[in-house]
Amino acid sequence: MPSVQLLVLFGSQTGTAQDVAERLGREARRRRLDCRVQELDSYAVVRLDGRAGDPGPDGVGRSEPMQGKRRLGFREPLVIFVCATTGQGDPPDNMKNFWRFIFRKNLPATSLCQLDFAVLGLGDSSYAKFNFVAKKLHRRLLQLGGSALLPACLGDDQHDLGPDAAIDSWLRDLWEKVLGLYPVPLDLAEIPPGVPLPSTFAIQLFQNMPSTVAQEPFVSSLDPHQPPSESQPFLAPMVTNQRVTSPSHFQDVRLIEFDITGSGISFSAGDVVLIQPSNSAAHVQQFCRVLGLDPNQWFTLHPREPGVPCPPGLPQPCSVWHLVTQYLDIASVPRRSFFELLACLSAHELEREKLLELSSATGQEALCEYCSRPRRTILEVLCDFPHSAGAIPPDYLLDLIPRIRPRAFSIASSLLAHPNRVQILMAVVQYQTRLKEPRRGLCSSWLASLDPGQGPIRVPLWVRPGSLAFPESPDIPVIMVGPGTGVAPFRAAIQERVAQGQTGNFLFFGCRWRGQDFYWEAEWQELEKRGCLTLITAFSREQEQKVYVQHRLQELGPLVWELLDRRGAYFYLAGNAKYMPADVTEALTSIFQEHGGLSSPDATTYLGILQRTLRFQMETWA
Ligand code: 2AM
Repeated sequence: MPSVQLLVLFGSQTGTAQDVAERLGREARRRRLDCRVQELDSYAVVRLDGRAGDPGPDGVGRSEPMQGKRRLGFREPLVIFVCATTGQGDPPDNMKNFWRFIFRKNLPATSLCQLDFAVLGLGDSSYAKFNFVAKKLHRRLLQLGGSALLPACLGDDQHDLGPDAAIDSWLRDLWEKVLGLYPVPLDLAEIPPGVPLPSTFAIQLFQNMPSTVAQEPFVSSLDPHQPPSESQPFLAPMVTNQRVTSPSHFQDVRLIEFDITGSGISFSAGDVVLIQPSNSAAHVQQFCRVLGLDPNQWFTLHPREPGVPCPPGLPQPCSVWHLVTQYLDIASVPRRSFFELLACLSAHELEREKLLELSSATGQEALCEYCSRPRRTILEVLCDFPHSAGAIPPDYLLDLIPRIRPRAFSIASSLLAHPNRVQILMAVVQYQTRLKEPRRGLCSSWLASLDPGQGPIRVPLWVRPGSLAFPESPDIPVIMVGPGTGVAPFRAAIQERVAQGQTGNFLFFGCRWRGQDFYWEAEWQELEKRGCLTLITAFSREQEQKVYVQHRLQELGPLVWELLDRRGAYFYLAGNAKYMPADVTEALTSIFQEHGGLSSPDATTYLGILQRTLRFQMETWA
């Protein structure tokens, strides 16, 4: 019998934290520890004390807790939290409920006195709030009486070797601690690194498509009473896919419109649409060829362990074509765990040796050079290791290759101006590395390749609240700073506010050239004429010196200060996360000093107050 039930809970936005959590799960199982890995918000952490009532489906008890105090219901003795920090210090979407709960004031300080825990954080040290979520969670768990096995691990995306650099040594310490506290019986030897763990699923292949199977898995399972979500997206017809930058501009930016009639989808300005992309047919064919898979075969999936759910969004039975097209992220850059498992599955001596090296602790610089830096994809790696690829048992496909994650886009239109429509403004991601083939963003290249003029096209999507919310009062002005595609959420906000008769709309927009990448120029002019909008532009390349939105802000410093300080304006910022947010924030604090007469520390405090009262909000993306 295994000695302890270890629980790994993760909060992951892009899949990295999930990958690390799954690695933890594998390492635990190799050490014969019983381990479950679960998304934070799918775990009923919010259980009341057993005597106070049964937990509901969301884990919240239905009767009043004892003496008004809630208790945390970790029934596990040992929990490892793996948490990413997103944006400006926010938790990922799939841990937001947990985050709200754990910081409730009425949790007693002894809630977690039975719990051993450890926190592994994933962050990016180029952001001001590096690993904010992990640090704050660690402190909070201690405050609630939990015992930390180790200091929190702070994985850093900026590190040359990626987050693994910090994680590797932390994990060594963790296993030492865990096995010291919870020794496994001596007769259970560790499963050595070169031997694969059993696959999570067994796959049963068969040749002919069963006649009862629906061709369109997303549609067949739609519950009309539920709004579309990740597990049941709406297949929205694409109406428009139009390039909005001039043909000579360096960047291909698209205005894409979807028809959401009958979907039950509703949204307001600031919300985002999630789109589930697919692999290209050419990549799917190549993948099937290298792995020796017949795309026309069908299969059913069976979890090897009871209680393991089947992957969401995968129909049963499913075709190999569907699995590879819509589920396996073969265009992503493989992580170390991919090489580990592929090495275990490979019988080709030379390839196996190379794969083992790339997955070893000492091979991390080589792995970075081979994969992460040039952004080499899973499909390309499999082509480089054809003997190993050709020998992958289908059972392991879902362990080896992560699933395609949905991509989030700020919604660029309002239902009040475009009923039954969702519009997005999307830059097609393409760049060169040292590899010959240009690197392409999966979702943007896929969407850009779809031509609604050639026949009906349906795209799986759903919406969720974004991080921007606009004031309802008609008298509160809003200052919106959105260079480039950062203007998207502000177009939705302006349309919504104008339709509701809200005035005081100030938009700072920046692009390179008036004639090349000035989105919605005619629309803004029309609104200006009607007195509904004040537009301030910064064309960065039309003069010798670069002019950016923050320069315009500074030029209009007295107005900005007056709007914020006298008229209670809200300030919004959206766009590229690299330097712009910090530059604009700096311009703002210098306005507070120059035109508000504040000292430097007071200007920082003033900004903090705006942030806390949601009068300074931002949505940024990489
Ligand atoms: P550039 O490309 O000429 O440097 C939209 O991408 C606009 O944002 C472009 O005009 C771009 O200018 C500008 N931009 C680039 N870096 C910026 C920054 N740090 N702050 C504000 N705007 C920036």
